[in-house]
Amino acid sequence: MNRGVKKWNYQDRIIAPSLLAADFGRVADETTRAINAGADWMHLDVMDGHFVDNISFGPAIIQAIHETNDVFLDVHLMITRPDHFLPRFIGAGSDLITVHVEPEADHDVASTLKAIREAGCKAGLAFNPATPFDAVVPYLTDIDLLLAMTVVPGFGGQSFMESVMPKIEEATAYRSSHDLAYHIQVDGGIGIETAPIATAAGANVLVAGSSTFGAPDMKEAISAIRGA
Ligand code: DX5
Ligand code: ZN
Repeated sequence: MNRGVKKWNYQDRIIAPSLLAADFGRVADETTRAINAGADWMHLDVMDGHFVDNISFGPAIIQAIHETNDVFLDVHLMITRPDHFLPRFIGAGSDLITVHVEPEADHDVASTLKAIREAGCKAGLAFNPATPFDAVVPYLTDIDLLLAMTVVPGFGGQSFMESVMPKIEEATAYRSSHDLAYHIQVDGGIGIETAPIATAAGANVLVAGSSTFGAPDMKEAISAIRGA
């Protein structure tokens, strides 16, 4: 676990292409393509059709990527009862596991985060656009990454929600006033135009699906987003 994570520094700009936008018929090769194009992490959007109105993939795909590529696996669980499924995602080779704070995810958030860390993985907490920052505050000392969704979760290719930026500013301010060190990640509608808006608010981990896997030149797209 945490393979290759030399340092965990929220000053680093991290680009994490989302597999959701890749060719599902060639996930191993698509992951290799993303790594060769400059991806820092691979963002793996797990959807169960309950927490979100879509179904994507499960631990077997994560295992396949883990066995065919050497890259930090950032696993975003958009599922109910993530605690129940945790052993399978840990066993599949996840490096970071992010769970949702919303009650619909139906788990004890603090104990799930603790279990993720006890397994040697980095722990992430995600909150949806409609969920206030206050909902995540009780957990901020127990996480390595905070994911502020910039779309309503479930589908790639949606438009970036700039209305989420005040919550990212709150998270950035809270981190420094409480001397914490969590990364701030954004996910949804991130591309060359929207990346600077998110980083200006304090985000440093940028998930991008359509704007990277869908770009004519993935390497160019990733470096453009990184430098935006
Ligand atoms: C939503 C997904 C998407 C995906 C990225 O549940 O999590 O945000 O990762 O999609 P794009 O980058 O295509 O908006
Ligand atoms: Zn995601």
